[in-house]
Amino acid sequence: MTDRPTPPLDASDAEREAYWNEFYASTRARRRPLPSQFATFVAGELEGPARIVEFGCGAGRDSIFFASHGHDVTGVDGSKAAVESCADLAAALGEQAEFVASSIDDPELASRLRVEPGNTLLYARFFVHAITDEEETAFLRLAASLTSPGDRLAVEYRTVRDASGAKVTGTHFRRFVEPTAFNANAVLQGFEVAYAVEGFGFAKYRQDDAYVARAVLVKR
Ligand SMILES: C[S@@+](CC[C@H](N)C(=O)[O-])C[C@H]1O[C@@H](n2cnc3c(N)ncnc32)[C@H](O)[C@@H]1O
Repeated sequence: MTDRPTPPLDASDAEREAYWNEFYASTRARRRPLPSQFATFVAGELEGPARIVEFGCGAGRDSIFFASHGHDVTGVDGSKAAVESCADLAAALGEQAEFVASSIDDPELASRLRVEPGNTLLYARFFVHAITDEEETAFLRLAASLTSPGDRLAVEYRTVRDASGAKVTGTHFRRFVEPTAFNANAVLQGFEVAYAVEGFGFAKYRQDDAYVARAVLVKR
């Protein structure tokens, strides 16, 4: 992997997309990846096969994990290189999952995503802190439009308390998020907070023990 310059917080959409394309083109997995701690937590909250849409699916490890447990999965990512890599890996592992390349604020995205009212779980790990304030609102609006009462949105992201911690992937674009502000935005868009927790230990990766927030939000 080459050293890449850190995308500044005011980087343009095109600069961030180019950054992620280069990142995923150079970090293709060939073996079955381990899921995140968050994905295993969320999988344990599901009572049966669900329709899952993952936003910011990256290299696809959590989408592929959910698919391997019988869920009907679509992974969405703004990076075409990420989506190609996910599709190749899922095919190589014999897993059925669909992958869609789209920016979160593309007005066409909703029409490309199938939902099952009453059985849909939207999932986003380490995505909320990778997008801008405006994209966060677009994401929550899209989430509200895709869900019916009782459907859930599960998120995990780096918080403001994580800004100074050590990072394994040192150069990613990060907008450290204030959980109360995020939850308030979600409530504004039609969700209620069913579960919220934050701290160290939830997303530890080698020397990077991120201070994260998790929330499970339910559509009202
Ligand atoms: C930190 S990575 C998280 C990947 C994966 N969920 C994980 O936990 O390993 C953030 C992902 O969000 C994607 N992303 C960033 N901005 C985006 C946007 N505006 N629309 C869609 N995807 C975006 C990036 O391409 C990247 O794959």
